[in-house]
Amino acid sequence: MKVSVTKERRAGERRVALVPEDIGALRRRGADVLVEEGAGASSFYPDARYEAAGASITTRREAMANADLLLTVNGVTANDAEALRPRAAVAGFLAPLDDLHLVQHLAREGLSLISLEMLPRITRAQSMDALSSMATIAGYRAVLLAALHAPTMFPLMMTAAGTVRPSKVFVIGAGVAGLQALATARRLGAVTEGYDIRPEVKEQVESLGAVFVTLDVGMELVTGKGGYAAQQSKEYYRRQQEALGEHLSGVDVVITTAAVPGRKAPMLLPEAIMDRLRPGTVVIDLAAERGGNCALTVPGEVVVRDGVTVDGPVNLPGAVPKHASQMFSRNMANLAALLIKDGKLHIDTQDEIVRGVLIASSGEVVHPVLQEAQSNT
Ligand code: NAI
Repeated sequence: MKVSVTKERRAGERRVALVPEDIGALRRRGADVLVEEGAGASSFYPDARYEAAGASITTRREAMANADLLLTVNGVTANDAEALRPRAAVAGFLAPLDDLHLVQHLAREGLSLISLEMLPRITRAQSMDALSSMATIAGYRAVLLAALHAPTMFPLMMTAAGTVRPSKVFVIGAGVAGLQALATARRLGAVTEGYDIRPEVKEQVESLGAVFVTLDVGMELVTGKGGYAAQQSKEYYRRQQEALGEHLSGVDVVITTAAVPGRKAPMLLPEAIMDRLRPGTVVIDLAAERGGNCALTVPGEVVVRDGVTVDGPVNLPGAVPKHASQMFSRNMANLAALLIKDGKLHIDTQDEIVRGVLIASSGEVVHPVLQEAQSNT
């Protein structure tokens, strides 16, 4: 069977789905690897390294036309589908809930679709969890952005010109991105605080040298499953905003990462709360792509209002293409290994992970979450 890797086409995307180091593992399972010429160039993996690892460098057309399994970062377009053979499998961040019509179209074309976003959060799947790998990078980069926007420095400095107090960084949402943001801000010398709706993350926040902030919302919490938060009521979010507002007036940097799977990001910092921030405060809204946690967020832009800077960066992992590709590729290769048996594409739906990520096969949308979304449209 042939596993193909093509150059990502989305504007500004610099990652590649497979790096040379992971080609050997696929070849050992009996797959030939085809790589589009220049696919790894923008992430600093030249064609010669792919060739040295045993891949064949070819044109985009050949790579697509011969693929049994196409590995991508951002999935494929409807046009790409015409270049693929029916029954080919496509794996990547397919954002299926953002564009259900595209999923339905690709399914009708006969493609098997493997969506990394749907990976179950179970121990065996950890080595394939590209969403977490990319969130780790985003958390790290968010802090670097904040440090550059801030009118203050992060560390305590005792100098001949006097003592400079450290910045206070408050991270909302202590999931994968939030925990990495806390760790990075601490390494830069900031005083750190973390808050999450899930009280069980307290220990993890504290293990990173941060204070776990508890807000008195005065209402019962709806608990989620599998390390994710559940959607709360409007009243809960209103009270939470109020409590956050009081806390935020004393911080220099706010990094928001709150997310609920399959939903728009919760609004945590509406305009009225933003008015309470001190001029000079910097907000980095990592949830920008999913609607934002802050009312002033404009995805991909930096907005300054009344001295408060709000940055809503998109695709932060793409800004670190070499390491982001390395991590993505290892996750992808581990997942691909589950899909190749004796040199053939083998989509075994008895496997919990495969069943979790498979969203379309044999002409149909097969994932229950998407089937539900279909029936609601
Ligand atoms: P995660 O699911 O691991 O963490 C999200 C956290 O938010 C959870 O701990 C959850 O309990 C918490 N949360 C949910 N509702 C909350 C609320 N009302 N108040 C406080 N905490 C709340 O997600 P992960 O992987 O850390 O991603 C975080 C965000 O970063 C997502 O929106 C994701 O799309 C985004 N992201 C952005 C990137 C970028 O380049 N801008 C790249 C990667 C991720």
